[in-house]
Amino acid sequence: MRRRAVDAVEMMDLPDCDPAKLELTYRQFELVNRLFSGWRRLYCREIRPLLSRDSATTLLDVGCGGGDLARQLAHWSGRDKLLLDVTGIDPDARAYSYASRRPHHVSVRFRQADSSDLVREGRRFDVVISNHVIHHLLPAELAQLLTDSQVLARRLSLHNDLRRNLAAYALFSLAALPFRGSFIRADGLTSIRRSYTLAELTAAAPPGWRVARHSPFHQVLIHRPDHPDD
Ligand SMILES: C[S@@+](CC[C@H](N)C(=O)[O-])C[C@H]1O[C@@H](n2cnc3c(N)ncnc32)[C@H](O)[C@@H]1O
Repeated sequence: MRRRAVDAVEMMDLPDCDPAKLELTYRQFELVNRLFSGWRRLYCREIRPLLSRDSATTLLDVGCGGGDLARQLAHWSGRDKLLLDVTGIDPDARAYSYASRRPHHVSVRFRQADSSDLVREGRRFDVVISNHVIHHLLPAELAQLLTDSQVLARRLSLHNDLRRNLAAYALFSLAALPFRGSFIRADGLTSIRRSYTLAELTAAAPPGWRVARHSPFHQVLIHRPDHPDD
């Protein structure tokens, strides 16, 4: 746990992993994210203040996996009677297939793409987010994601990820015992080993980005184009 396990491989990233287990992993992400990822607080503090009842705010979820966060954000904003238009992208065809088959509101759409595809198309969004993606990336891929986010996001980028520490590893190891038949427990533990400490992510962050600890086991990389030092 002292060093990032950059060579550890998550089962779900293997092209030939068991498709039934992968589907169940996408399904179980929904509960895992709701319990552990802290997006309700990020929505209330960071995203909701940008939304309005009159015109739609656009949000891009990069590496959306099974799409549960995209659907959840649309649900919360709808309940608040605020307009939010959500695009979830993932380069993995299996994630795109799963997300697009799940019932979702018309304000949510999914695409098989990565952030650089959207930059090439000249697309822009008010808000760009990701959840549990950063630790999957090589240093050059992380740098590319952050460069793309700066081009794509008009108002805010938020990249939420796990923070590596022993307590998180021990607690998730117990908490994930009920998640059977999927890659949730094995990949979750690998993810914690692959994730950054606060100091490591701060060192990897380009100028204008800051890292904030926002839950016992998560940290978020934040960029505001209008307030780069905020
Ligand atoms: C652990 S899953 C998280 C999925 C979802 N965001 C969630 O929180 O449930 C990581 C996702 O990142 C995607 N991913 C991997 N490399 C990526 C990249 N370079 N750009 C965008 N997404 C990527 C994977 O395909 C995978 O679906």
